[in-house]
Amino acid sequence: MTKTPFVSTKKTQASKERMTARALHERIKELTCLYSISRISGKNAAPPDSVFQDIVEVIPPAWQFPAAAKARIEVDGKSFQSSNFTESRNKLSAPVITQGKRRGWVEVFYIQRGTGAGEKKFLKEESHLIKAIARQIAFIIERRQAETEKDDLQKQLIHADRLATIGQLAAGVAHELNEPLSGILGFAQLMRKHYKLPVKAAEDTEKIIKASLYAREIIKKLLLFARQTPTLKGRINFNDIISEALGLFERRLEKAGIELISNLSPKLPLIFADGGQLKQVIVNLVVNAIQAMPAGGVLTIRTTVEGMYLLCSIADTGTGMTKEILERIFVPFFTTKEIDQGTGLGLPVVHGIVTSHGGAIAVKSSPQNGALFTIRLPIAADSMLQG
Ligand SMILES: Nc1ncnc2c1ncn2[C@@H]1O[C@H](COP(=O)(O)OP(=O)(O)O)[C@@H](O)[C@H]1O
Ligand SMILES: [Mg+2]
Repeated sequence: MTKTPFVSTKKTQASKERMTARALHERIKELTCLYSISRISGKNAAPPDSVFQDIVEVIPPAWQFPAAAKARIEVDGKSFQSSNFTESRNKLSAPVITQGKRRGWVEVFYIQRGTGAGEKKFLKEESHLIKAIARQIAFIIERRQAETEKDDLQKQLIHADRLATIGQLAAGVAHELNEPLSGILGFAQLMRKHYKLPVKAAEDTEKIIKASLYAREIIKKLLLFARQTPTLKGRINFNDIISEALGLFERRLEKAGIELISNLSPKLPLIFADGGQLKQVIVNLVVNAIQAMPAGGVLTIRTTVEGMYLLCSIADTGTGMTKEILERIFVPFFTTKEIDQGTGLGLPVVHGIVTSHGGAIAVKSSPQNGALFTIRLPIAADSMLQG
């Protein structure tokens, strides 16, 4: 296996040895390069960008003319270049492919120095090498992806676990408070009914009643969040629930300058659910969306079917949320709103209701880009046939 394009007809022993030595030297460079790449990729803690940057620097030395070789790695639209990078037309490249999808390229360019210099040729071995490098990069991407997915799953589990703990705590507190509160409310109502109170005292009694009713609402929501309210389940069409809920907002949407786009699948299978509770879900999400669009915008509600699940998405074009806010939205009493605008119980209640129906809720949002809430609910087993 010779690496020089020029082959003499009468090889002397010495020239043969020289060629073998050179081929060996090239092979060592290739192996060194591949070894360096696997060593760099082994640095698990390093962010992916720095890994690719380190890799691109070890590529040029593996080529036959290292001084003239420049390398570039492109992954998912991001570009990493070896030092003093310039492009030229003289290049060798290989695609980076993961799971049948092209994610980018590895490229090596020979830059031409001076005039009249002969075009530097790539060796056959080098086209194998660049493919091997591309495969290694693809492997790194796949491994990193698997790790992120694992991390995300772990985070979700911790989150769910924390919510469940908060739920138990909230339910405990709510039950404890319920009784004394019933007393306060009941006796205040009795006072109003049975005594001829002086005007001021009557007014104060009204305040006690109003405050107790408000507190009772909060307790109800806490119990809903903790999934401790009995459900009244029946076979329902989710589109009807949405229409009923939206009916409550017609005027308010119009006044707020919000355009409503509702895109409800006409062939929605039935679900086995508590209609009243699900209406509450839609109401809470729509209220949030309206509050997030003080200057108007678009509210889009969509229902679709995906396998055994019904999907309902509610999207707004409002303020959106930062990562820090997103992490806390399902925690009871977390709110970014003024005291009369929100209690921080809307989404915890939504979460409690959806999960108690065997469903799930997901959110996508970033600042200034609005928010997208997607609810997934299992379709009633016997309505799959009617599809
Ligand atoms: N559609 C949305 N757009 C932007 N932020 C939202 C949206 N929905 C919820 N949020 C954020 O999540 C927080 C919690 O929502 P929620 O539980 O309904 O409580 P509340 O609306 O009473 O504050 C809100 O205070 C707000 O910061
Ligand atoms: Mg709310």
